[in-house]
Amino acid sequence: MQEKEIKVRIQVYESVSELSLDDAEVINASKEALNKSYSPYSGFKVAAAALLQNGAIVSGANQENASYPVCVCAEVATLSACSAQYPGVAIQKLAITTLTGKPSSAYPKAPCGQCRQTILEYEKRFNTNIEVIMCGENGQVYKVGSAKDLLPLYFSGTDL
Ligand code: THU
Repeated sequence: MQEKEIKVRIQVYESVSELSLDDAEVINASKEALNKSYSPYSGFKVAAAALLQNGAIVSGANQENASYPVCVCAEVATLSACSAQYPGVAIQKLAITTLTGKPSSAYPKAPCGQCRQTILEYEKRFNTNIEVIMCGENGQVYKVGSAKDLLPLYFSGTDL
């Protein structure tokens, strides 16, 4: 038996002001996009903003449905909007902001498994890493350099 160790890196910042101006810009775009959230069932707002290689910023938010499994996560909505508006353009950064309305849960939330897999596909598609920045309502910010840091033992097209 062999044991494999996979290392992932996560940067923890005390506030948005510790990040670069580029990062802050995409974070702010994700915060502004919270008003695009349609979340009457969970009351849990999630918004995302992507910075593309051509400098454009595209944002989106979670879109819920009375039939719960039909809900679309903010990350997937945003990445799909990128493909619709700028097909063929790689994504550099993806900032995600969550707003729960509960003061006790203002910490940054990590994307769900399906979103991680979707972000990874965009990395593979354009052969780039996508920095993923996670924010709560305020305070600490988490940042990883790639979806692979969120999904270390991943499945991809090369496995098919
Ligand atoms: N949600 C996202 O938008 N992204 C995630 O990564 C996790 C969950 C949304 C889906 C649903 O509208 C609400 O958050 C509660 O699960």
